[in-house]
Amino acid sequence: MTKQSETKSAGDEPQLGPTGKPLREFPEPPVLESHGPARVIAMVNQKGGVGKTTSTINLAAALAELGRKVLLVDFDPQGALSAGLGANPHDLDDTVYNVLMDRKVDIRETILETEVENLDLLPANIDLSAAEVQLVNEVAREQVLERALRKVSNDYDVILIDCQPSLGLLTVNALTASHGVIIPLIPEFFALRAVALLVETIEKVQDRLNPDLQIDGVLATMYDPRTLHAREVMGRLVEAFGDKVFETPIKRSIKFADATVAAEPITSFAGNHPGADAYRNLAKELIERGGAP
Ligand SMILES: Nc1ncnc2c1ncn2[C@@H]1O[C@H](COP(=O)(O)OP(=O)(O)O)[C@@H](O)[C@H]1O
Ligand SMILES: [Mg+2]
Repeated sequence: MTKQSETKSAGDEPQLGPTGKPLREFPEPPVLESHGPARVIAMVNQKGGVGKTTSTINLAAALAELGRKVLLVDFDPQGALSAGLGANPHDLDDTVYNVLMDRKVDIRETILETEVENLDLLPANIDLSAAEVQLVNEVAREQVLERALRKVSNDYDVILIDCQPSLGLLTVNALTASHGVIIPLIPEFFALRAVALLVETIEKVQDRLNPDLQIDGVLATMYDPRTLHAREVMGRLVEAFGDKVFETPIKRSIKFADATVAAEPITSFAGNHPGADAYRNLAKELIERGGAP
């Protein structure tokens, strides 16, 4: 590799996206005349800190802006998604944990409305960390979340599940409840090994529990188009996943952390920021490829 490719500037050529195609804006999707049943999507990567929660909140907020009714499921005992939408994990009454473990708890009464129009939240807190162990003795332990979400499927167009960084029973529950999986990752070489392991888990779930499960897409987060390293990793991902790699990249920006502190999606915290537009474009790309109504 020549030094030049490392420092290549955009010049007059069209800017290329992470998949090597020119960056493009996806069209405004049609207005939905009616709502539900929901398409369920799990946001999964067993590595932490790759932008799962950030992408879940902001993709959801962008879909909600497009008039889609969205339910967010916090499926991480850390409760970062809940906190990121202003729900204080300690003040919560019932959470997704109670919905899973106690059939008498009504999911509808556990779901919270957020400040964002069309966006609801099934919150979580540290209680959920006990579920992994407690579910082991349940009948059909992999289907507990699916059974719970079925009750509200007709109320939403999209349900996004923010998974914890593991491939344990909670994540298997999320994969079993889902139609699709989005894999957010930072394009670094270490990511490739993690993704290979994740794909094995997805294939096991397809084999045994959920034959219709699809990989909806691989999403590059904290993408830095200037580094050769990131572009090489993206090339490898395109070899492995083809068109499933989202053309829309999410670049690195401190604004995402600022939005988290403000407990808001970036689309409302800094609606004109390029980061907000990136998630809006991602929402449109997802809809265009049939990943959301
Ligand atoms: N595009 C981005 N640019 C810069 N920082 C980001 C970006 N996306 C997420 N972050 C930050 O990286 C950290 C991890 O992100 P998070 O979404 O919590 O990852 P995960 O849910 O996979 O653990 C957080 O501090 C978050 O604010
Ligand atoms: Mg997270």
